[in-house]
Amino acid sequence: DVISVVTGAGSGIGAATARLLAARGDHVVCVDRDEAATRDTATDVGGLPVTADVTDPAAVEAAVEATVRAFGRVDAVACCAGVEVNEAAQRLDPRVFDRVLAVNVTGSFLVAAAAARRMIAQGDGGRVVLVGSANSVVALPGQAAYAVSKGGVLMLGRALAVDWAPHGITVNVVGPGVTDTPMSAGSLGDPERRALLLDGVPLGRPARPAEIAEVIAFLASPAASYVTGAFLPVDGGWLARG
Ligand code: NAI
Repeated sequence: DVISVVTGAGSGIGAATARLLAARGDHVVCVDRDEAATRDTATDVGGLPVTADVTDPAAVEAAVEATVRAFGRVDAVACCAGVEVNEAAQRLDPRVFDRVLAVNVTGSFLVAAAAARRMIAQGDGGRVVLVGSANSVVALPGQAAYAVSKGGVLMLGRALAVDWAPHGITVNVVGPGVTDTPMSAGSLGDPERRALLLDGVPLGRPARPAEIAEVIAFLASPAASYVTGAFLPVDGGWLARG
């Protein structure tokens, strides 16, 4: 049995990942700070719901402990929890900058580290998938906090891949392009912002969450055993066009 933990499982890409992993036969632990949403996804996929804020080290530790209590081990973790700033008025607020980095970077680190400590103790490797963005390498207007955070996630994945390779733990970063989820609903609903986001996407449309989940699920599977430290854009060709 494969035991997989998915953060941000209450919505969007995390929920799609939980569904796909469960359909593949994994036991899935659904972690989100939104209690009702994570319960809904967990019920949907027959998984274990855990309410936790990924910026809270004790809560993250407790989530991994709950996983081990329920299933005995952890094989894979997909860190999908993340936030974007939607209000232009907030974009230069230092507290907002800190919060975006705390959730996207520190939150990914805390979850990856808590899972890796357990994987190291198990002694037979493991797989960590981080969710960066096409904005890990390209910044659009108004994205300082988000782009810095996603650049941080990219380098976090590379650094942890190097550090944990001796333990057989792989760490990879998926870079979604614009994806049709509640996070991007505001931007995609605003004609000007939608044009900015989709302009230059060769496939000419946003991704469906399930299209991102497919790649996360691959990197979280034993089939990807020799892939580590990679950054894999899933962006409809946006970065290729430049
Ligand atoms: P979403 O907003 O639909 O889902 C994010 C989930 O994370 C929500 O359920 C939310 O409750 C949870 N969450 C947020 N902060 C949390 C915290 N501190 N602790 C625990 N859970 C928390 O967003 P979406 O689109 O599914 O995003 C998932 C990831 O994909 C994020 O890291 C996002 O930055 C990334 N991404 C999304 C893109 C898009 O266009 N939607 C494009 C590129 C990357």
